[in-house]
Order: sequence, then C-alpha cells, then structure tokens
Amino acid sequence: MVFSKVAVAASALSLGAYAIDAQINVDLQARYQSVDGFGCSQAFQRAEDIFGKYGLSPKNQSYVLDLMYSEERGAGFTILRNGIGSSNSSTSNLMNSIEPFSPGSPSSTPNYTWDHYNSGQFPLSQQARARGLPYIYADAWSAPGYMKTNQDENWSGFLCGIEGETCPSGDWRQAYADYLVQYVKFYAESGVPVTHLGFLNEPQEVVSYASMGSNGTQAAEFVKILGQTLEREGIDIELTCCDGVGWSEQEAMIPGLQVVGPDGKSAEDYLSVVTGHGYSSAPTFPLSTKRRTWLTEWTDLSGAFTPYTFFADGGAGEGMTWANHIQTAFVNANVSAFIYWIGAENSTTNSGMINLINDEVIPSKRFWSMASFSKFVRPNAQRVKATSSDASVTVSAFENTNGVVAIQVINNGTSAASLTIDLGKTHKEVKKVVPWVTSNDYDLEEMSEIDVKHNSFLASVPARSLTSFVTECE
Ligand SMILES: *[C@@H]1O[C@H](CO)[C@@H](O)[C@H](O)[C@H]1NC(C)=O
Ligand SMILES: *[C@@H]1O[C@H](CO)[C@@H](O)[C@H](O)[C@H]1NC(C)=O
Ligand SMILES: *[C@@H]1O[C@H](CO)[C@@H](O)[C@H](O)[C@H]1NC(C)=O
Ligand SMILES: *[C@@H]1O[C@H](CO)[C@@H](O)[C@H](O)[C@H]1NC(C)=O
Ligand SMILES: *[C@@H]1O[C@H](CO)[C@@H](O)[C@H](O)[C@H]1NC(C)=O
Ligand SMILES: *[C@@H]1O[C@H](CO)[C@@H](O)[C@H](O)[C@H]1NC(C)=O
Ligand SMILES: *[C@@H]1O[C@H](CO)[C@@H](O)[C@H](O)[C@H]1NC(C)=O
Ligand SMILES: *[C@@H]1O[C@H](CO)[C@@H](O)[C@H](O)[C@H]1NC(C)=O
Repeated sequence: MVFSKVAVAASALSLGAYAIDAQINVDLQARYQSVDGFGCSQAFQRAEDIFGKYGLSPKNQSYVLDLMYSEERGAGFTILRNGIGSSNSSTSNLMNSIEPFSPGSPSSTPNYTWDHYNSGQFPLSQQARARGLPYIYADAWSAPGYMKTNQDENWSGFLCGIEGETCPSGDWRQAYADYLVQYVKFYAESGVPVTHLGFLNEPQEVVSYASMGSNGTQAAEFVKILGQTLEREGIDIELTCCDGVGWSEQEAMIPGLQVVGPDGKSAEDYLSVVTGHGYSSAPTFPLSTKRRTWLTEWTDLSGAFTPYTFFADGGAGEGMTWANHIQTAFVNANVSAFIYWIGAENSTTNSGMINLINDEVIPSKRFWSMASFSKFVRPNAQRVKATSSDASVTVSAFENTNGVVAIQVINNGTSAASLTIDLGKTHKEVKKVVPWVTSNDYDLEEMSEIDVKHNSFLASVPARSLTSFVTECE
C-alpha cells in the first residue's frame, strides 16, 4: 500500500481497506511516572568528532548540534551524559582527569587542574545548553588509578578503603568524593551547572578501559560519603547510582542501597535517580526503588552501521527495534529517561545514532525513533495510560505540562493499520492532532493534521512504522 499524507487522515469510509483495525484508548486520569527526557553521551572524545575531528565543516557542526539538541530543528535531547575522566592525558580516546597525578597520599593537598575542555565535553555542554538542554549528567567510569586497589584506571579494581578493600597508600574514599565535587565546581565556575552526578559505570565488568568494581554495599558506603560531602559544601545536585551493566544487575545492587545505617538513613535517601544500562539485561520491569529510574546507556555494539533500515528483520540496529526498546522502558520499566550510548560519531558500528564521515552527517532510523519521543515528550511530562485492542499495535502516551498530549503508536504489523484513537476526558478541548511518521520511507515526517471531534479521531498508519500523534489545543 502506498502511504501518503492523505492516508494518515483516513476517513471512516476507508476503514474496510485495512487488515488491522485497532481501538486506542488514552486515559489522562491514569497517571504514572514523570519524565526527565532523552539523550546520549559523547564521552571518550566522541565530542571531538562533532567538532570536526573527521572533517565536519562548521556548518555541519551546527547542523548536527541542532539535530540533537534543538527542540524546534531536531530531537531536543534534554540529557547529556558526560564522562568524568580518570586518565593522565587525552591521547588516543582517553578522557583526562582533573587530577591526573597522585598528590602523594590521600591527605596531601590535591593538585587539581582544569582545561575548560574536558575532552571536548565542556564546549559540547555549552553548545547543547545554548540550544536548550537542561540536564548534564556527569558520570565517572573510574577513580584515577592511584586511588584504586589495582593502581590502574582500567581493569576494574576497587576504591581504596571501601568495605573489604585496603591499599598501602591509605584510604582514598574522602579524596574521591572531594575530587568529584571539585569537578562539579570547575563546571559551575565556568558557567555550566552539572545537574546529576554519578561515580560508577558498569561496576560488574572487568574491562581494558576505565572501570571500577563495586557491589551494592560498597556503592551505598560511597553514596553516603559523597552525599554528606555535597551537603557540607552546600551543593545542590541530583546524585545517581550505579549504572549497572544491565537492568537486572542494577536491580541486584538495590538491596545494598536500601540498608538503613545507625544514623537512620540509607544510601537511597541520598540518591535522586537509580541508573542502569540495557546490555546484559533489558529494562522490561520497574526497579525496586522509590526513586526515579533512568536507562543511562544502551546500544547495538556489534552490528555494522545500519542507517536507513527502520524494519527489515528486527535486527539489533534497526529503528523499530529502538522504538520498541524506548516504549517498553517507559511503559513496562517505569523509567523517567532513556539515554542512548553515543549521539554522533565516526564509526563503522551502530554504537552511535548519527554517523559523521568526512563532512557528511548521516542520521540513522535509531535517531529518528528517539526523536519521535524526545521532540514531543518534554521534561516533567507525565506518562498516562494508553491501551490498544490489537497486539501488533503498541502504544504509549504522555501529557506535557502545557497540556499537549503526545501518543506514540508502533505498528509492527505487515499491513497498514486503521486506528480509532479516543483521548477520553482531556483538560482542554482538543481540536486537531498532527501525526509525525517514521518508517523505512519516512524520517519523522510531519503529515497533514487531523480533525478531532469529541476527543476522538480516526487515522491510519503504515505497516512497520512509528507515529507520534501530537495534540493541538484551542
Ligand atoms: C571517519 O572519517 C574519515 C575521514 O576523516 C573517513 O575517511 C572514514 O571513512 C570515516 N570512518 C567511518 C567508520 O565512518
Ligand atoms: C600516564 O599513563 C600512561 C598509561 O596511559 C602511563 O604509561 C604513563 O606512565 C603515565 N604517565 C605518568 C607520568 O605517570
Ligand atoms: C600539579 O600537576 C601539574 C600537572 O597537572 C604539574 O605540572 C605540577 O608540577 C603539579 N604540582 C605539584 C605541586 O605537584
Ligand atoms: C560486597 O563486598 C563486600 C567486600 O567483599 C562484602 O563484605 C559485602 O558483603 C558484599 N555485599 C554484597 C551485598 O554482596
Ligand atoms: C587504559 O586503557 C586504555 C585503552 O582502553 C589505554 O589507552 C590506557 O593507556 C590505559 N591506561 C593505563 C593507565 O594503562
Ligand atoms: C515508578 O517510579 C516512580 C518514581 O518515578 C515511583 O514513585 C513509582 O512507585 C514507580 N512505579 C512502579 C510500578 O514501580
Ligand atoms: C553537510 O552535510 C550534508 C549531509 O551529509 C552534505 O550533503 C553537505 O555536503 C555537508 N557540507 C556542507 C558544507 O553543507
Ligand atoms: C514484530 O514482528 C516480528 C515478525 O514480523 C516479530 O518477530 C517481532 O517479535 C515483533 N515485535 C514486537 C515487539 O511485537
């Protein structure tokens, strides 16, 4: 079937032509988690790819920054996950530390240094903020090697002094907390507020790059030290933990975070967000915490770069695969944010959403799937109940603080689907709705608006597609 702008606004007369006929009900009175947003990282010098490392012209640097961070001209990502470096230089793709060399001992005066660059992440943060980005999540993959049991930023190891771990050089726990606070201060003094702070990345993994081990008990011990340090310094920031390598691995750390100490407080009391990745287990269930949760990293690390496929066979790098991942994370796993691994980079794999080759900018369908959510589901929007009568059509819905409702419909069927969408009881009368379609044929294409009568409208969506319906109020 040929899909056209007219077809989206299917009239009741054409209903018989569709193999799938789904009733979608949105219930704005049934409200769930609130949203912080969407985003990616440009850590390990991927920020430099955006600033022309592989030949991107100034014009296309602006273009890719707009694609990622402008709500009007692009996806309007709201979260940038920066890496707090642990390396003694920034050669290769290393992220340099603000204290590259040991000051001698944990009690020596620290020797901090600030280059206003941070492996490209500082100027990127400025550019993203200039386009409206509200949240900067700074996360350390590892403490500097001299603070760890293995004297190396790589290959895991533990923070010296944490439960069960001692070092000849002493107890570096407070020094690491002070170091993280200093990083936040350097950014703040330079005009960029870090809004969220984390100190671990995939602590279950022993890998050749920057990494640090921790179980839930050890993480809880450090969360309290860091939380109390921030309180003493009067720094208001949202603390996160623990960027577990998978959702189940993060779940396994939570009991440790919830142990109540002699002071009557648990680590969870100091945290604002519990964070986990999607690699070894996907976000398909809510984590057992009262805190908000964020999916802070996930990607397809193995597939060859797949830019133009929304759906072929459900492959790990396809656009619809990611549309499903995002929808499932919000609907089934109760996340408040979805952060892909890399936004834009020069790569042969799907680890990024946008590829940069010489002066070419190639957004993938994964990017357009993220944008279908992020452009219309803005910070502090609330997820609301939405149901579909047909198993091959799945739906999610959010109400923004300005009353705009965004409904994402994924049609995983092999034929176009005719939809009757009922908005239920709305706060303002809805007059029109605008569909934005992503599929093998379309990249978040704005279609003709549809009239809404008595809070209900008819539409058709193509086979294997993601459509965001966005309401317009009087
Ligand atoms: C990276 O950019 C270079 C240009 O500097 C280009 O020749 C190469 O094909 C690109 N590599 C990938 C994997 O995109
Ligand atoms: C800096 O780190 C590298 C490993 O990345 C190491 O080979 C080198 O010795 C270190 N330099 C100093 C001065 O410690
Ligand atoms: C502080 O570190 C810098 C390099 O970051 C080094 O040049 C300087 O000598 C160090 N100062 C002291 C007192 O160790
Ligand atoms: C975490 O590791 C420490 C040190 O080995 C140990 O004492 C503690 O029981 C462990 N906690 C959990 C929850 O496994
Ligand atoms: C850590 O690993 C990276 C490569 O992943 C390497 O470039 C760096 O030199 C290593 N650091 C040390 C201290 O050996
Ligand atoms: C979802 O997350 C919120 C915090 O954002 C929490 O209050 C609520 O209990 C969670 N719901 C479920 C089902 O876990
Ligand atoms: C920018 O990127 C586009 C798309 O990849 C490309 O066609 C164009 O040649 C690039 N350069 C400039 C200066 O626009
Ligand atoms: C989408 O359909 C394909 C078969 O065409 C199936 O393998 C896949 O599991 C479906 N995905 C979802 C999320 O239903």
